[in-house]
Amino acid sequence: MTLMVIPTVYSMITGAPFVPTEMRQVRRMLKAAEIKKGQVVYDLGSGDGRLVHTASREYGARGIGYEFSPFVWLWAKFLSLFWRSKAQLRFGNFWKADLRDADVIVCYLLPHSMERMKKDLLPQLKPGTLIVSHAFHIHGVKPWKEIPRIREERLGPIWIYKTTGGIRPKKAALAQRKKSSR
Ligand SMILES: C[S@@+](CC[C@H](N)C(=O)[O-])C[C@H]1O[C@@H](n2cnc3c(N)ncnc32)[C@H](O)[C@@H]1O
Repeated sequence: MTLMVIPTVYSMITGAPFVPTEMRQVRRMLKAAEIKKGQVVYDLGSGDGRLVHTASREYGARGIGYEFSPFVWLWAKFLSLFWRSKAQLRFGNFWKADLRDADVIVCYLLPHSMERMKKDLLPQLKPGTLIVSHAFHIHGVKPWKEIPRIREERLGPIWIYKTTGGIRPKKAALAQRKKSSR
């Protein structure tokens, strides 16, 4: 029991608990992102892997998911057998991942994680990377596209952001910090 409760509580603090995105919404998100073959698509908190598998199978993308709840990740690994896609499901904390090669990042997180994304994630992404968020927006950042909710079908809104800044390589940033502290 404790083994299940701890990852759930921890995931609520650092991202969001496991609630899968409906398949119709998955398809709306990927379509809106206009994914091209070979693009790198990350899902931050990939749950059962449905977003990265669909991106891989239906768009020919290189799907990579990060999931840190052991049970959810194991379940996703099991389901991978049936998806037969080339997507990778990595066990780990996405806040610690290097996402500089991302073309598209999809997520279904909570408002506090979207706020953290603004300061910790956006500055490290290459210009033109799309962030496709199910349900929650990044406060104070103008969306590139906004797909409205469909109330009667119970599908939430989708917010898409396009990064314009340059990459801030982690190593270079560290070297710069060291230099200026001398
Ligand atoms: C709301 S679910 C979304 C799952 C999937 N993206 C989808 O849309 O179907 C959020 C997932 O993120 C995971 N998660 C939360 N914080 C995380 C973190 N810091 N690193 C990796 N996974 C995280 C949770 O365990 C949960 O499975």
